[in-house]
Amino acid sequence: MDRIVIRGGRRLTGAIPISGAKNAALPLMAACLLTDQPLVLSNVPAVADIASMANLLAELGVDVARQDAADYGQTLTLTAREVKDITAPYDLVRKMRASVLVLGPLLARCGHARVSLPGGCAIGTRPVDQHLKALSELGATIRLDSGYIEAAAPAGLVGTTITFPFVTVTGTENILMAACLARGETVLHNAAREPEVVDLATCLVAMGAQIDGIGSDTLRIIGVDRLRGAAHEVLPDRIETGTYAVAAAITGGDVELLGARADLISSVMDSLAAAGVAVTPTNRGLRVALKNGPVQGIDVMTEPFPGFPTDMQAQMMALMTIAGGAAMITETVFENRFMHVPELCRMGANINVHGASAIVRGVPGLKGAPVMATDLRASVSLVLAGLAASGETVVNRVYHLDRGYERIEAKLVGCGADIERFRERRDD
Ligand code: UD1
Repeated sequence: MDRIVIRGGRRLTGAIPISGAKNAALPLMAACLLTDQPLVLSNVPAVADIASMANLLAELGVDVARQDAADYGQTLTLTAREVKDITAPYDLVRKMRASVLVLGPLLARCGHARVSLPGGCAIGTRPVDQHLKALSELGATIRLDSGYIEAAAPAGLVGTTITFPFVTVTGTENILMAACLARGETVLHNAAREPEVVDLATCLVAMGAQIDGIGSDTLRIIGVDRLRGAAHEVLPDRIETGTYAVAAAITGGDVELLGARADLISSVMDSLAAAGVAVTPTNRGLRVALKNGPVQGIDVMTEPFPGFPTDMQAQMMALMTIAGGAAMITETVFENRFMHVPELCRMGANINVHGASAIVRGVPGLKGAPVMATDLRASVSLVLAGLAASGETVVNRVYHLDRGYERIEAKLVGCGADIERFRERRDD
């Protein structure tokens, strides 16, 4: 298992290119199952989760053609001329929960689908009950059998009104895709408004879907008989943007994030501004620099979009560990999303967790240590802490980082970080 070694204390300066959004690309890839024509997706990040989804689609009979871009990213041409298999097997779903995104499209196109239940996950139980409930409201019969979701709608799905009891991102995406091929009108109330949902809906419209209310919490979909192929460029990754913004801030640096879009991260920009970090638009993206003096402690609460994203919570906490004063960080989207806390404390942070809130009392500096984390964003928060810490930080279990960050060391080294990957053949 690879390790990353960081010798901290270097101020980051320069430019970092922002990749396409993994969490937009995953549902967009699943959307290829809705048509027998090619779906061409550009600006897809070259990360492990995308490779997992490509493997799953190939298993189902999708022809996957890949073309690497010059430096970062790739273009995928996905053609599901015929769906040969309707089973998403345990081994692939276990690796990545987002595999459940093939459920809606398979059911809508083929009339049945068999998808392994994702099971537990490091950040809370994360069930898919709302996906299943909504699909049954569209007329599907759902059975759970030997760890698999068996969904059937042999006569096709039928549009209806669905109200999600809380916001679910992949739940909204799954049902949105299914509803595009259902008979009649589907109305989704309390739909997720995340930019990744907007990106998916925009691509579905290019494929011939009829969707109203894109970007709002009420989506109206009129089902069509068939969808066609399309070409779509994946939007920039707002979480990668926020992560590198914190990298600049935590090192007292000055970094331009190329291709980043302010409208996707306004809540993060507001929090950073309150903490004393200036994020200003440039003609190539966004520039991030400390205003004057050290970062100040601020309170942050995670919420569905347009609120502060849960996927930025661990990174913001890393920044708060060295802030002047205290910060309260409250996680409302997931239970059990504070696994980075004990690791940050091993680096000298002062954090106390009380239920869904963590009180972070800023310390003058962190000290490098061997650390590891059990999910993607927790892992990257340790890399950020390592950039600011004195001495050497060794981040183990790097495969979590590789799931969602494209060539993270290359991007950071390009701005002057001292960070290196050591490849190892055996798992520890
Ligand atoms: C997506 C993102 C993930 C992000 C999350 C919240 C992808 C591939 N992943 O995950 O990075 O952290 O949104 O912004 O886009 N829930 C249920 N039942 C369900 C569905 C969800 O109880 O059927 C709960 C979850 O446990 C969680 C909350 O709802 O507490 C929100 O989860 P959800 O928005 O569905 O997250 P994902 O779509 O899995």
